[in-house]
Amino acid sequence: MAEGFSPAALSTDKAARYAELALEIASVLDGEPNRTARMATVACMLAQAFDHFFWTGFYVVDSEKPRELVVGPYQGSLGCLRIAIGRGVCGAAAETRQTQIVPDVHAFPGHIACDVRSRSEIVVPVFDGAGALIAVLDVDATQPDAFDADDQIGLERIVAQAFAG
Ligand code: SME
Repeated sequence: MAEGFSPAALSTDKAARYAELALEIASVLDGEPNRTARMATVACMLAQAFDHFFWTGFYVVDSEKPRELVVGPYQGSLGCLRIAIGRGVCGAAAETRQTQIVPDVHAFPGHIACDVRSRSEIVVPVFDGAGALIAVLDVDATQPDAFDADDQIGLERIVAQAFAG
């Protein structure tokens, strides 16, 4: 277990910040097999690393209802408990197995407004080592157009390292 986490020490350049954060997360997760603990740690460290991340967390494929996502570890205001696969941004990421970047949630058909303050979001599918979809990582911001390809690359790398390793 790492000795602590100092987001203030991370680079201000976004791509570099993600690369450094990926190393920090790997260090904290080292030796911990429990998936809930890993998700909680990733959600916490992402929320601390980026001040504009308003909601950061996981919706997990429900083993009892495989067409539904159920909320997992997160940081932020109260999230919806369940999302049908195919609905909203999270459901689209799960259905297509592709990262979704939504610059303006008001323009996204079927967007699920868990908190009306969310204006833009990125949702990244999370796979296990066998390539099965296990969850999606949802990151929301209160300002429009907060996410770009650097966020996609950074977040995809972090979830691959944390859950598909
Ligand atoms: N924005 C998501 C719903 C989840 S919350 O924002 C926490 C969506 O449309 O999938």
